[in-house]
Amino acid sequence: MTEIPTYRIVLRPVQVELTAPAGSLLRDLLFAQGVEFPCGGQGRCRGCRVRVLEGRASVNDAQRERLSAEELANGWRLACQCALEDDLVIELRQWDAAILVDETPFAFEPRPGLGVAVDLGTTTLVAQLLDLTTGRVLAVRTALNSQARFGADVMSRVQFALTQGGAQQLRGLIRRQIGSMIEQLVFSAQVAEGEIADVIVVGNTVMHHLFCGLDVEPLSRYPFESGQLGLQTFCGQDLGWKLSGGARVRFLPCLGGFVGSDILAGILATNLLEREGLNGLVDLGTNGEIVIGNRQCLLCASTAAGPAFEGARISMGMRASTGAISEVRVEGHAIHCRVLGNVLPQGLCGSGLVDAVAAGLELGRIEPSGRFSDGAGAWELAAPVVLTQNDIRELQLAKGAIAAGIRLLQERFGASSGDLKKLYLAGAFGNYINRASAQRIGLISFPAETVEAAGNTALMGAKVALFRPKGEDGSFARLRRQTEHVALNADRGFQEAFVEEMAFPNMGARVWGLGTEKTPELPEPST
Ligand code: FES
Repeated sequence: MTEIPTYRIVLRPVQVELTAPAGSLLRDLLFAQGVEFPCGGQGRCRGCRVRVLEGRASVNDAQRERLSAEELANGWRLACQCALEDDLVIELRQWDAAILVDETPFAFEPRPGLGVAVDLGTTTLVAQLLDLTTGRVLAVRTALNSQARFGADVMSRVQFALTQGGAQQLRGLIRRQIGSMIEQLVFSAQVAEGEIADVIVVGNTVMHHLFCGLDVEPLSRYPFESGQLGLQTFCGQDLGWKLSGGARVRFLPCLGGFVGSDILAGILATNLLEREGLNGLVDLGTNGEIVIGNRQCLLCASTAAGPAFEGARISMGMRASTGAISEVRVEGHAIHCRVLGNVLPQGLCGSGLVDAVAAGLELGRIEPSGRFSDGAGAWELAAPVVLTQNDIRELQLAKGAIAAGIRLLQERFGASSGDLKKLYLAGAFGNYINRASAQRIGLISFPAETVEAAGNTALMGAKVALFRPKGEDGSFARLRRQTEHVALNADRGFQEAFVEEMAFPNMGARVWGLGTEKTPELPEPST
């Protein structure tokens, strides 16, 4: 086998350098750096435009359709449509004063100084340094959450926090890590720490409590509610950070036991409280968080979807990284898999799992009940990666919980799926999931045009908050007042809806009893 060459990519203005094998998709590489793909990488919105300053990036039909001849000649490309074929120097114009809300620039009021927006996730951290006078992103840093060695998910983090000295250890770790990310941001942008006026941190309720030093014990047991969901404000010194005395650090308030300030930020980013009609936001992760509402009122809820969407508890599941099957397409009577990084397949990530099951339903290999139609225990997607009966079951549990949650919240508005004007899908999974596959498995029951990938709404909302320094006294009290938390596990109808939604829609198979052809050994990336 010939060796695949590796190329170097330099990102400007943030001066990040990456290396990746030829054929890697820029979408995969840049998304990990906090770049947004507003239409989910479909080549429809132009939101991922980058300018290639050095190196070659080929143009395909989607780019010819969306970019003028002049733009193309000047090096403009749609990052979601390019695969790596050369060393590149790229300018990320998305971060040029573009705080995007629903694809329109957010009309921000310039403020003096610099600001930092931090998305504190259970697994990953993203921090951006912004010039508050122009809105321009000056530097970005991403990292894995250093608390992860004490538990991959929020509940194991809570359990560790309840051990002797555990909470202090987790608090110290995360405060030090974000403090050092801010130092790196300042260093790479060549600015002074003293210029930072404001830091906004958002995260789920457990991350909020652990960072702020609040008691997580109420989050460890039913009904998983805490009395300390409000805004927390610090000065840099409280946290051991090198910021000037006047700089404020705010961890935005949470909305419920499992609906954190990342969702409050998502509401800000998608402008849900200002929109006409009924709109929704879904963040798919271990906990699926759902917000649905109109200008008068929003309802929010979380459902324990399980980690299937993140590729966990799946026999060959893995995160969306090199070697993961991220797409499965039906081609004729067989399937074709796309593998991240253009290497041999090693496992299946969340978007690949949804695609694989949708493909199985199309090919008649999987029945609406979720069983393999031939009674087999597993289906080889691309050797050595298989999909097992148990994997399908895990996906049914996850999608059943989300679909039932959406249905129940809609019903509280006396609405059905046809009444929803827009459903925003937040987070990495929202960016990558194939909407047709999501529809095929019954995860979402809306027309494809209703569903829109919204990128990292937590980070975007943190940026929006930086430009609303008073934010209704800084605590977003109005937003919290107008958002009601619904405890789905206490809702009588939820169990019934959950069981109903676990089955796959019975649409019949497109190709019965076929699909036995194998995928080529080294799949090519689709560009
Ligand atoms: S055009 Fe690339 S994300 Fe929309």
